[in-house]
Amino acid sequence: MPQERVVMITGAANGIGLACARRFADEKCKIVLADTDTEAGLRAAADLGADEGRALFVDCDVSDPLDVHNLFAQTRSVFGRLDVLVNNAGIVQAGTILTLSTDDFDKVLGVNLRGAFLVAREAAKQIVAQIEQEKDEEADAAPSYAIVNMSSVNAVMAIPDQLAYVTTKGGLNQLTKAMALGLAPYGIRVNAVGPGSVNTDVLKAVADNPEAKRKIMSRTPCGRIADPDEIAKVVRFLASDEASYITGQCIYPDGGRLALNYTVDAD
Ligand SMILES: NC(=O)c1ccc[n+]([C@@H]2O[C@H](COP(=O)([O-])OP(=O)(O)OC[C@H]3O[C@@H](n4cnc5c(N)ncnc54)[C@H](O)[C@@H]3O)[C@@H](O)[C@H]2O)c1
Repeated sequence: MPQERVVMITGAANGIGLACARRFADEKCKIVLADTDTEAGLRAAADLGADEGRALFVDCDVSDPLDVHNLFAQTRSVFGRLDVLVNNAGIVQAGTILTLSTDDFDKVLGVNLRGAFLVAREAAKQIVAQIEQEKDEEADAAPSYAIVNMSSVNAVMAIPDQLAYVTTKGGLNQLTKAMALGLAPYGIRVNAVGPGSVNTDVLKAVADNPEAKRKIMSRTPCGRIADPDEIAKVVRFLASDEASYITGQCIYPDGGRLALNYTVDAD
């Protein structure tokens, strides 16, 4: 019997992170859900089998090193290992170069970039330690280890009043490449997923406003907003053996947005 994979997902209580948690749980993985939304996180963990030892919710602010330390201590104590990290937690805070406050800039960088770094560093150390230990053990098949960072089309395009957010996503793509190179000798793959517009709380304000929605659709050749599970499927692919020769990349499930110069008709 191959060992059951343990998958940690940050920002797993809602939206894309929750969709990823469901996908991996469907594949009989054990899930660690890390989030600051305790109520939704506990509910999600219960749905995914917390009572049967298949899911664990940890209240964790990814920008806080102590919380991250505790996240890994609990993961080790309950599941004993880690195979996949999905670095998904992310926030937005509006502001242009003329209006954004230092506090808001720091807040977004703290979660989206510093948080991603803090969690990935612990995950990398944990997985490298497992690899060293597994060298001495006879295993049927070598486990496959992967880290997937949740980027955005805003890693390579920009929105003037989302200065902090687009900066973090550009940084996350570079973090992905540098980590991929650093971990390639161990066989740990690191990739990113860069969605376009996805139907989650982050997009609700836009989706509920017909004019804002029309603007978004004029930049979306596929003609619809993505379902979170369409992003989760790409994450699952990148974390699987199907992607065994892919590392240091960002895949963009964006409905054609990055290919589009100018606009398409939208009503
Ligand atoms: N929705 C989109 O259109 C879209 C597009 C591109 C990229 N993304 C990215 O996808 C990721 C998930 O976004 P979503 O749309 O599902 O958002 P969401 O708001 O539905 O979910 C984000 C989750 O992160 C959690 N979170 C926030 N701050 C946290 C912190 N400090 N520590 C731990 N958890 C924290 C929230 O509680 C929430 O459960 C983000 O990184 C976002 O930038 C979203």
